[in-house]
Amino acid sequence: MSLLERVAALEAEVKQATAKTAEEVERFRVAMLGRNGAVTELFDAFKQVSADEKRALGQRLNQLKQAAQERLDELKAGSTTIGPTSSTTLDLSAPSATEATGSHHPISIVRQRIVDIFGHIGYTVSQGPEVEDDHHNFGALNFPPDHPARDMQDTFFVEGDDLALRTHTSSVQVRVMENSSPPIRTISPGRVYRNEAISARAHCMFHQVEGLYVDKGVSFADLKGTLDHFTKSLFGPDVSIRMRPSYFPFTEPSAEVDMSCTICNGSGCNICKQSGWVEIMGCGMVDPTVLTNCGIDPEVYSGFAFGMGVERIAQLIYRVPDLRMYWENDVRFLDQFTAATFRH
Ligand code: PHE
Repeated sequence: MSLLERVAALEAEVKQATAKTAEEVERFRVAMLGRNGAVTELFDAFKQVSADEKRALGQRLNQLKQAAQERLDELKAGSTTIGPTSSTTLDLSAPSATEATGSHHPISIVRQRIVDIFGHIGYTVSQGPEVEDDHHNFGALNFPPDHPARDMQDTFFVEGDDLALRTHTSSVQVRVMENSSPPIRTISPGRVYRNEAISARAHCMFHQVEGLYVDKGVSFADLKGTLDHFTKSLFGPDVSIRMRPSYFPFTEPSAEVDMSCTICNGSGCNICKQSGWVEIMGCGMVDPTVLTNCGIDPEVYSGFAFGMGVERIAQLIYRVPDLRMYWENDVRFLDQFTAATFRH
């Protein structure tokens, strides 16, 4: 048989080749393209022929090799046995690979819940700069220069200016009051900064949601009713709140708000330090001086304000043992939170 005839015979063989299992596919590969396979052998023989013959034969040989390779690929795709030699085998019964999806950050989930609750009772969302001037962060809020009350919030100052990283989002409320007229009903969620040593229980940056309501005849009873509605919406209908007198330069009277401990239902545990109550925010009636500073007549209008730390609220919901975890962005931590894990 001439070399050309052998090529033709092998081509026919390649076309008709079948394989049901990975082993049969492998047998075909070895027989044709393996080191001693029929096609490989022909290439060896090709080296011996005259230059004239080479021209005619070379192309046919290459076609044969290509046909053998294509047939091999087809057989691999069609064989049903999964094995190391059939990596392209399609198993329609195999479970599909799950797509990795991202999730919301726990702080975002809680902030969004807070915004939703106040949104339902008519509060808009206001935002302002994180690098703030002294007037909006302190002055307009009734912190006199050099007054010790400024030490309540250790401040990061921005060098060379009267600028600082805002220590609370009350600064946004000043901006809203300066730029609009009552009725004002708004909340300001955002990042705030305080010069504190970072530990499991404290951080130099955190998130707040502060709220402001200014209108004719706004009373302390309105404040308490609003915050009662808020805590019940967030933590469930069984929680109650209480208010303790406190001090803030921008509110008078001022109060701290405690909520009955959701962990022990008020009977005492280490989260509430055996008291049955956990502190969740500060609040009060907007000081008339602040209204005046912001261009609102305190003879006509009154208002209340409140402010809470989002991390603090999130702690009560998720009980994350270390505040730093919120900032590390470890996917193993973040993966545990979905909006669905927290619903009332
Ligand atoms: N701004 C206060 C703080 O950051 C919280 C607060 C807001 C208190 C409004 C009373 C009224 O601590």
